[in-house]
Amino acid sequence: MNPDREHRLSTAVLVVGAGGAGLRAAIEVAELGVAVLVLGKRPAKDAHTTLAAGGINAALATMDPEDTWQQHAADTIKESYLLANPRTVEITAKGAARGIADLERYGMRFNREPNGKISQRYFGAHRYRRTAFAGDYTGLEVQRALMRRATQLEIPIIDRLYVTRLLVNDGVAFGAYGFDQIDGSRYLIHADAVILAAGGHTRIWRHTSSRRDENTGDAMRLAVEAGARIRDPELVQFHPSGILEPEDAAGTLVSEAARGEGGILRNAVGERFMTRYDPTRMELSTRDRVALASYTEIKEGRGTPHGGVWLDVSHLPREVILSRLPRVHQTLMELQMLDITREPIEVAPTAHYSMGGVWVRPEDHSSDVEGLYAVGEAASGLHGANRLGGNSLIELLVFGRIVGQAAVARSEQLAAQRRSAGAVNDARADVDRLAAAEGPESPRLLQRAIRNIMTERAGVVRDEAGLKAGISELAEAEDRTAAIGVHPDLAGYQDLAHAFDLRSSITAARATLEAAVERRETRGCHNRSDYPELDPELQVNFVWSPGAGVVREEIPPIRPDIKSRMQDVSTVGKLAE
Ligand code: FUM
Repeated sequence: MNPDREHRLSTAVLVVGAGGAGLRAAIEVAELGVAVLVLGKRPAKDAHTTLAAGGINAALATMDPEDTWQQHAADTIKESYLLANPRTVEITAKGAARGIADLERYGMRFNREPNGKISQRYFGAHRYRRTAFAGDYTGLEVQRALMRRATQLEIPIIDRLYVTRLLVNDGVAFGAYGFDQIDGSRYLIHADAVILAAGGHTRIWRHTSSRRDENTGDAMRLAVEAGARIRDPELVQFHPSGILEPEDAAGTLVSEAARGEGGILRNAVGERFMTRYDPTRMELSTRDRVALASYTEIKEGRGTPHGGVWLDVSHLPREVILSRLPRVHQTLMELQMLDITREPIEVAPTAHYSMGGVWVRPEDHSSDVEGLYAVGEAASGLHGANRLGGNSLIELLVFGRIVGQAAVARSEQLAAQRRSAGAVNDARADVDRLAAAEGPESPRLLQRAIRNIMTERAGVVRDEAGLKAGISELAEAEDRTAAIGVHPDLAGYQDLAHAFDLRSSITAARATLEAAVERRETRGCHNRSDYPELDPELQVNFVWSPGAGVVREEIPPIRPDIKSRMQDVSTVGKLAE
């Protein structure tokens, strides 16, 4: 334990977040021969990216030769309910094949067809089979491949370092401040450019596919406190299939691959209920529709004993389950002693992905703060009101590379950088204050209070009264943080990390609730029972900051060659692999 020690480091490019997005960005920087340092609040080999399951999208046309990057872009924009930024989408879809090639270069093991080509599976609302995969461990394999390359390049990674604040002088980022979660020592890091890759905010709901202490809204808070803005925080993807039991693992994902491989959803009375909600696409309808369908079945009393619906893959050949859904098989065996080759799984919607995030420019993912970039789930622009499964992994490959190049360009053109002793002192004082807090309120219990508020007030279906009540309840919870107590102990400074996580959760919750109130329509994942129709006037992004609240932002027009490809997607003939 050495809380009085302060390490001082400097680098050209600082990456906050050691998941796939952060690592891909760092690899680009290192391959360009520029100094980079990566910080993570949990071990990099166990970053959140490892949980991504079913696949990564690129129009490789290995299974369906008609596929093109333009069709990938069209499907993405259509399913975003026209809230995706067309330029962000174009860059992603066009760069996707290169992203896959990079992964192959790093030694990623994809599932392959007998002819050696990368296999691609069908994911909901894609016109063609374009989701490449490694069983249902795709994210794990991606992270391993990136770690391998990062190790070859000798990229320094300090994990277990909690970043409490980005350092900014006069609107320009110049580093970050934080502490070691084990020994409490402090870190002051100076950098020419900072890349924020610290994930989303889905852990602020009770049932979530994120694990404890991750996706607590850190990127949103760090960005906002640095002077950046958040785009579309209300647009949160609820994945249709999170497990229900045991309670402390509630929300753990059952990959969409289970439905992609032919899994069937039934309610408690045995009806294949998707026939009522999307008879053409059935279980492979879009995530928002399947989640809402399951929610409705449960709400209307046709739910299973634990308040879910049944997802059944037991009719599939055992070898298919073991080779293409090994993680689902393993997870259910471990957590519930359930053999999915014989029995159905009880599932319900789970908070899965922040489709909004830090406001960034499409071309280089620079933010409002000079020298600060955001990438991956921390950023916004690609997904709009409904993310296509498999698009998040490809996003981090494509934009990790781009943002790495942008940060290098900035570092190289910088003649000198002004720092601010005042900003550093403020960051130090902030940690000192919180570390010494001795009040009766527990950060963990307040985090739980916020999860309860978000679950009750801002879940799959929302309304004005509930959202406004949520805002008041959140203010009460925030008031209680004044009496917080933080107790580092022999095991480390996790309690201090929880106190900062709590602060991040509050910022993220406030942004979400305030933007959700303003979005008075139903669009994609955002279901307003009091505004059940889509409002064409609201085909805009909402940009939030604590001072200005919600401001509308126009969305640029869609290229004609992409627009002409935007049709409803049917699954007919696509499921036979
Ligand atoms: O269901 C899944 O495998 C999730 C994939 C994704 O969110 O992209």
